[in-house]
Amino acid sequence: MRDHPRKILLAVTAVAVIALSPAATSHLNDQEVSQSYRQSWFAMVGLNFSPMVAMLKGEIPWNNDQMAAYADELAILTSMNSMRGFSDGSDKGTTRAKPGIWQNKEDFKAKMDDMAMAVESLQEAANSGNRKAIAGGIAETGKACKACHDEYKSKDYLY
Ligand code: HEC
Repeated sequence: MRDHPRKILLAVTAVAVIALSPAATSHLNDQEVSQSYRQSWFAMVGLNFSPMVAMLKGEIPWNNDQMAAYADELAILTSMNSMRGFSDGSDKGTTRAKPGIWQNKEDFKAKMDDMAMAVESLQEAANSGNRKAIAGGIAETGKACKACHDEYKSKDYLY
């Protein structure tokens, strides 16, 4: 006998509900989720930005389409609310995020916004294919990364 589609749907729903139940996620506390969120986000930011820098330096071959694709992905990332990764209480753990972030949230957020603005210009430049504009956009974005890292990112894990 064939299973009725509705029966299958119910089974699928039951599995989804179990997967999302508190029991299934109880090994993760709020602060771990937040920390993992931001570290994954930064990893994606880095993996899109560093090849752009490498291309600019001639370490890998220049490719306009690839350059634009990296910039587009970077812009998708900066359009997200990255501050979700810095929720209260997520400052302790395996992290390089300095405590100052939680003491100066407004300043930290302003630095995130500076980066988002730099990335917006970089995306425009990358899609124009104008190498000089791209070089300028990469430099500005790099400055925005550095401005924040200098103040808020430790070189080593803190705890
Ligand atoms: C507003 C602040 C801020 C901005 C802007 C920023 N970062 Fe970071 N970044 C951090 C913090 C804080 C961490 C550490 C997060 C943690 O360990 O929990 C981090 C971590 C990273 C990491 C993970 C590896 C490591 O050394 O911890 C990479 C890669 C990274 N950032 C790349 C970038 C790049 C590339 C840019 C710019 C395009 C950038 N970041 C912009 C604050 C920032």
